[in-house]
Amino acid sequence: MAAMDGAGGLYETIGRGYATARPPDPRIANQIEEAIGGGDSVVNVGAGTGNYEPPDRQVVAVEPSPSMLRQRRNKHATVRAIAERLPFVDDAFDVAMAIFTIHHWTNRDLGLQELARVARRQVSLVYDTDVTARMWLIEYFPELTTALWDVDAPGPSSIGLHLEVDDVRVLWVPPDCTDGFTGAYWNRPERYLEAAVQAGMSTLTRLDPGARAAGGERLRRAIESGDWDHRHGWLRSEERFDMGYRLVLSHRRPRWP
Ligand SMILES: C[S@@+](CC[C@H](N)C(=O)[O-])C[C@H]1O[C@@H](n2cnc3c(N)ncnc32)[C@H](O)[C@@H]1O
Repeated sequence: MAAMDGAGGLYETIGRGYATARPPDPRIANQIEEAIGGGDSVVNVGAGTGNYEPPDRQVVAVEPSPSMLRQRRNKHATVRAIAERLPFVDDAFDVAMAIFTIHHWTNRDLGLQELARVARRQVSLVYDTDVTARMWLIEYFPELTTALWDVDAPGPSSIGLHLEVDDVRVLWVPPDCTDGFTGAYWNRPERYLEAAVQAGMSTLTRLDPGARAAGGERLRRAIESGDWDHRHGWLRSEERFDMGYRLVLSHRRPRWP
C-alpha cells in the first residue's frame, strides 16, 4: 500500500481540479481510439478521471489516486492500483492503454512489463524529446528542460525495451485543444498565464514556485510587447501542430521458449 500511496500522491494535490483543467479533447480522443483499433476489452492504466476511455468497449480503469477516482463521470469499472502491480490475470484484456501517465510511474520497466502481461496489444502516449525540447515555452520557463520534460520523458525507445513496437504516430494537437496538457496551448500563449491552467500541468506545478512566477512574468512581458507574436505568431494560424506527443502501438514480444 505504501508504494501505491506514493504513486497517487502527486495527483492527490495537483489533481484536485483535473476534471476542470483537463476536459478530454474530441480530436485527441479520435486519434487515441483509432490507435486502440479493434478489441472488446480495454484496461486504462493511470486512468485519472477517465479521459479517452473508448465508450463502446468493456473498460476497466486502473488509478492510484482517490482524488482522481472521485472526479470520474463515466460508468466504467475502476480499480485502485498501480501500473507496476496490476491486479489481473495474464491476458485479461485485448488492449492496454496508458495516456499521459508513464512519466509518473515509479518503475517504468515494471509497469511496461505489466502492460504486456495483462494485454496482448498496448497503446502508449510518450514523447519525442527532440521535438519537445524545441517548444517555445522553454524559452520562458528554461527550468522545464531539466524538470522531467526533456531529461526523463519516456519516448518510443522506452516502450521498445519491453514491447514490440508496431507503429509510432504523431498525436496532432488541435488549435483549440480543450485538454490543458503542457503542449495544449501552443498557439495561445496567454493561457499559460492563468493560475488554473498552470495548476493542470504537472510540468509547471513541479517547478520551483519562484521559477514558475519568473517564467510567467517573462512570458507576460513578451506577449504585451508583441515579442511573442513577432517570433511565434505564425503559430496562431496553424490548423494543428506536432508538439512531440507520440502514440506508440505495440504488442507483446513472444516469450523465449
Ligand atoms: C496526467 S494524469 C493522466 C490521466 C489520464 N490517463 C488522462 O489521459 O487524462 C496521470 C495519472 O497517472 C496516475 N499515476 C501516477 N503514478 C501511477 C502509477 N505508478 N501507476 C498508475 N497510475 C499512476 C496519476 O495518479 C494520474 O491520475
